[in-house]
Amino acid sequence: YVVDKGNHRHFMEKEIYEQAEVVSHTLSHYIDFAEGRVKADAAQIDFAALDRLAMSACGTAYYAGLIGKYWFERVARLPVEIDVASEFRYREMPLPGRMAALFISQSGETADTLASLRYCRDSGLTIGTVVNVRGSTMARESDAVFPTLAGPEIGVASTKAFTCQLSVLAALALIAGRTRGTLSAEEEARSVQALVEVPRLFNEILTAIQPQIETLSRELSRFKDVLYLGRGTNFPLALEGALKLKEISYIHAEGYAAGELKHGPIALIDETMPVIVIAPHDRYYEKTVSNMQEVAARGGQIILITDEKGAAATTLDTMATIVLPVVNEIVAPILFALPVQLIAYHTAVFMGTDVDQPRNLAKSVTVE
Ligand code: G6P
Repeated sequence: YVVDKGNHRHFMEKEIYEQAEVVSHTLSHYIDFAEGRVKADAAQIDFAALDRLAMSACGTAYYAGLIGKYWFERVARLPVEIDVASEFRYREMPLPGRMAALFISQSGETADTLASLRYCRDSGLTIGTVVNVRGSTMARESDAVFPTLAGPEIGVASTKAFTCQLSVLAALALIAGRTRGTLSAEEEARSVQALVEVPRLFNEILTAIQPQIETLSRELSRFKDVLYLGRGTNFPLALEGALKLKEISYIHAEGYAAGELKHGPIALIDETMPVIVIAPHDRYYEKTVSNMQEVAARGGQIILITDEKGAAATTLDTMATIVLPVVNEIVAPILFALPVQLIAYHTAVFMGTDVDQPRNLAKSVTVE
């Protein structure tokens, strides 16, 4: 593997633009494109035999897991316990027999995630790991390895590993749904078709939104605080958006479940704190719109990330509205990760920070 920046200014930018290719590569490991079905034998875990799934990870990989939880619960009716690995390892959580554990890690070496994995293994659980580095410690110590084929990720802020993790988790949730009998053949075919279109949509979306996000990011770089809001799978994406922005631009950012707005962050709303709302026209859309109205009524400036249907359905004044195509619910978080990544990237570039190696952060945290 030759690792260079190619025509890009930073590894992070290159890795954002590589996503169509690496996600397509990753998906082909789990999906039979010709048959239009998931490869049930890619799962080496008998999901039908489980009452519960435990999940754990750190940082961006943890947010991928949080999105995965929504998928496993909705598609496969499989309850998921998830926690950041530094809490999971000390929680003394009961681990009943009909439970398996799933870990998510780009490096496969993160100390807390590895400790959580060993804790579950010592309790006799079957261990699966979604991991990017094949020969890593976590891969070696797992019963089932679910590779993300993202290639080497150099930028400290994870981008392509994240969307590959989401792709694997979506495919695993579909496999679990099939084996548990909770997913109809039509629903599986629809979801697979949606996943198949993801790589093409990546490139289309990047080309369409890039200039607008550059302009927006120049404005954002003047602010000191930013709030991200979302509901459902857009909530972990809001957390990821805030994490990315603070990591590389050093602008203070917080992610919140939109419904929690009135339980705290609304006190901070004024014209000095833009609110980035991730809201495709999904089952939560109307609820999120009422949260945006609460923000607007307090003089807050809204940046709305939505789809064509959502854009047509609102008359709210926004600082910017970023519009993506309408897509199946299961692939929405994978595609809506793009504007979130680009906003962080371009804002950091305007701030003049060291985008690929932000201060105080490490690519892989191998000490507790
Ligand atoms: C560090 C990196 C993040 C990453 C996290 C978990 O904080 O800066 O980008 O998400 O570790 O790393 P892992 O290798 O376990 O996915």
